[in-house]
Amino acid sequence: NYVKAFAPATVANVACGFDIFGFAIQEPGDIVEIKRKDEPGIVIADITGDAGRLPRAAEKNAVTVVMLHLLKHLGISDFGCEVILHKNMPLGSGMGSSAASAVAGVVALNELLDNPLSRQDLLRFAMEGERIASGSAHADNVGPSLLGGFVVIRSYNPLDIFSIPVPEDLYCTLVHPDIEINTKDARYILRNEVSLKNAITQMGNVAGLVAGIMKSDYDLISRSMVDVIIEPVRSILIPEFNEVKKAAISAGALGCSISGAGPSMFALSRGVDTAWQVGSIMTETFRQAGIEANMHISGI
Ligand code: HSE
Repeated sequence: NYVKAFAPATVANVACGFDIFGFAIQEPGDIVEIKRKDEPGIVIADITGDAGRLPRAAEKNAVTVVMLHLLKHLGISDFGCEVILHKNMPLGSGMGSSAASAVAGVVALNELLDNPLSRQDLLRFAMEGERIASGSAHADNVGPSLLGGFVVIRSYNPLDIFSIPVPEDLYCTLVHPDIEINTKDARYILRNEVSLKNAITQMGNVAGLVAGIMKSDYDLISRSMVDVIIEPVRSILIPEFNEVKKAAISAGALGCSISGAGPSMFALSRGVDTAWQVGSIMTETFRQAGIEANMHISGI
């Protein structure tokens, strides 16, 4: 009658794969506790770590919207539970914050109901959490948060998602500068058209990144971590973006780009020591410009 679930933060897009690539990191992550109650209905009993900013109404919060969708799909109308959400990452950070809440919520409820659905099947419910939080049901945060590892969304309609094996020595440095970017806004500023020239460059890099990761070819990973479509537009929203990226590469990172919709920036490195050095120089570069920043180092 009680379940506690954890869902990790994620890095979406991974440079060239807007809306189609994402990977999970080990921490931070959100924790959801749910407790069955006799009266029907889902109630948010408490949210910690959000400074009172997230909606408390069940039909407005990603953590419970996904539960309502799941109950509806299963045809259950007499179920009741109390939900506590522990938000362990900043809102609007580009670390997949809403996705982690949605995934922890749907996994917890599925468990409480004795797992009627598989992990893969839970994905489309978790995507509904993204729709409510950012206006778009993208899967590149919920996919990896739910399944772990590096995930590719080959198609949205029909949904076709798969995981690829990641080299053991590949580490992520995730740096969060203390500013906030709303995902909705960061999607709104993107152009709807892409030139053929940029599409060709991007496709080459997408293919190269998948092959590089699967073959543990670090040079190929490095050459492929280039985004000619989204990063040039969104990086304008992140102060010191170019300097921080340059610093990461100079410290030995394979590549560096925006994590999700930003403002967090991520870098991939070969080996944990390099990942730490990259993180120190990235945070230092933000701090020199008067922006507080913190980092997370994680295998993938
Ligand atoms: N792919 C999404 C975007 C991820 O970049 O808008 C948002 O976290």
